[in-house]
Amino acid sequence: MTTAIREPKNQYQFEAKSKYRESVWDEFSYGITTFGDRDIANAKVLFFPSRHGAEIPIALSRGFKEENLIACDKSEEIALSSWRKDYPLIKFYGNTLSRTIERLQEDSIKLDAANMDLCSPLCNQVYDDLRKLFELTPLNDNFVLAITALKGREASGLTDTVNALTGLSGPIDRIQIIRRFFMTLGLITWGLKKDEYLSTNKNMVYGVWVINKKQWIIDKYNLFFGRHKASLLKIINLQKNAEFNQLKGNGGVALSLIDEIIAMSIVIQSERKTFDTSFGNWCCEDGICNETELFDLYCRAMQIYVNWLNFDSLIGKVGNK
Ligand SMILES: C[S@@+](CC[C@H](N)C(=O)[O-])C[C@H]1O[C@@H](n2cnc3c(N)ncnc32)[C@H](O)[C@@H]1O
Repeated sequence: MTTAIREPKNQYQFEAKSKYRESVWDEFSYGITTFGDRDIANAKVLFFPSRHGAEIPIALSRGFKEENLIACDKSEEIALSSWRKDYPLIKFYGNTLSRTIERLQEDSIKLDAANMDLCSPLCNQVYDDLRKLFELTPLNDNFVLAITALKGREASGLTDTVNALTGLSGPIDRIQIIRRFFMTLGLITWGLKKDEYLSTNKNMVYGVWVINKKQWIIDKYNLFFGRHKASLLKIINLQKNAEFNQLKGNGGVALSLIDEIIAMSIVIQSERKTFDTSFGNWCCEDGICNETELFDLYCRAMQIYVNWLNFDSLIGKVGNK
């Protein structure tokens, strides 16, 4: 079902929006290559270019390919936009996001990222679409998702209810609410970006996350611990014995182990930590450790990583003992 377009008078053509676009596509480049370990040139991205398609040149300038961009809009006017002639290889679903998600599944399109620049307040439609996206769409691991939400205008009491259910308090932090929602879906997120901009007189907030299914992580690291548990426990014990701080030098723990610990630490941080806007950094959310034994191990490995950024000093010692 298509509908008439609803857009502000400026048709999303203003400086703060341009900066927002640059920032989102920068995070897509970073997230896909760093976390996903994939090539930008092959990355498939769903987005909502609207009338002017201003995101398209930005995406192309970052190395995304026209044929891998997938556009969606429920408005019939967008189907007639000039960017469709300029970029004929961009696949376009002239439908609601909900229907597009079904079409993506039918067409077996596996997404690497999506920019849900819907600009609506957080409402059931957004949650339903997100739920459907993660249930139906084939997504690559380390999927990168950006969501923009209008601050305010939520149905009265809805955000209070969400806050009450999630245990959040104080000013409503929509990005936190979205992150909590992801957790209810069994998703683990790593925040890349959180920012706001003014659209005429409306405040918009957006977040960009790397997202994984928790089960994928657990499966992956179960395997990892099957291989490296002994070494890891040794590292943890060394830290306990303060011998840890004296380690200097050469040889030993396989580099792949270090890589795995770094990857794992990222996952753990996303699980246990939250973005602190006042410091622009990640900080501990509640300090409560109720994870399984395995997750406890991940957490301790993460602490090692954080405490000991100089991994050169780690390489060799443990493996050689
Ligand atoms: C904020 S605009 C996108 C602006 C664009 N990203 C830019 O940078 O200029 C949002 C677009 O998404 C479309 N849209 C909003 N909700 C949608 C939904 N649930 N399904 C499909 N299209 C939707 C609107 O018609 C509108 O054209």
